[in-house]
Amino acid sequence: MTGEAAVSVPGKTILFGEHAAVYGHPAVVTALDLRMMVWAKPRPAAGPGAFRVKSDEPGDLADVAVEIATDGLNVPPEGLEVHIESAIPPGSGFGSSAALAVAVVAACRRACGDDASPSEIARLALAVETRQHGRASGVDVEAVLRGGVLWCRRRTDGSLEREEIPVAAATLDTFRMFHSGTPLQSTGEMVALVRRLMDDEPVRVGDAFATIDQVTRDGSRALLRGDGAALVDAVRAAEAALELIDVVPAGVRDAIRGIEAQGGAAKISGAGGRTGAGAGLILVAHPDAAWHDRLVRPSGWTPSIRA
Ligand code: PMV
Repeated sequence: MTGEAAVSVPGKTILFGEHAAVYGHPAVVTALDLRMMVWAKPRPAAGPGAFRVKSDEPGDLADVAVEIATDGLNVPPEGLEVHIESAIPPGSGFGSSAALAVAVVAACRRACGDDASPSEIARLALAVETRQHGRASGVDVEAVLRGGVLWCRRRTDGSLEREEIPVAAATLDTFRMFHSGTPLQSTGEMVALVRRLMDDEPVRVGDAFATIDQVTRDGSRALLRGDGAALVDAVRAAEAALELIDVVPAGVRDAIRGIEAQGGAAKISGAGGRTGAGAGLILVAHPDAAWHDRLVRPSGWTPSIRA
């Protein structure tokens, strides 16, 4: 039966493993308490075009998601109206595109009378992300769809290995999140730049990915046993490897050196950026809450909610 469907989906942060995850290395991801709401319903009257999307999000991605979600379904003859409202900053590593892909797919399927399983929603949402970004690991789709802290790895056959990591709330308190400004480059552009670097300098990128792989494993064990000091080491090492593949703009690197000089660690979370002032979401790590309170925040960074 067709009808109105409402879906709420959280944002996400990648704690460890971005970029390497695209090439089959593991990532650790967690949902964030910033949400996107999507409503889909049959349009009141038939008119030109089968769909109308009302959104403060980039229109293209919503259109792609509606198209992929409704492919092969019995769409109501009058078409669908899709309405999107979001508190997730777009294009900045907070999981806005994954949330949009998952929420639009789930809402449109349900509005067309098809209750897709979570795995089917993940498959379609990954198709949306792949169309948008060229190549996508799917780890962010899993984060927003399943919630919690997850270990994920895309296998060579395309299937996804996924395991929940039971992390104490106090351990997640090691992290604070900041928005350093929207990157100038999109996720698709950053993934393509890393691909090009891989072709030109395979040893450099291979070394960086090997470090990211190891740090993701170390970081996930540290999360499990609640070891804040080991998490700080893992975040420092992850950031160094991400800088080696040129996904951290110069100004953000300098700001992160300043945080390290104060005894903490910080890394980009998500695709990052090549040029410009911002790299989107930044994770700052230190086990002591009082240290976070004393931290001199880099100029232009705004605090965000916690993981
Ligand atoms: O910046 P975001 O939230 O789009 O995250 C991208 C993460 C990458 O590893 C760079 C790409 C991917 O598909 O995993």
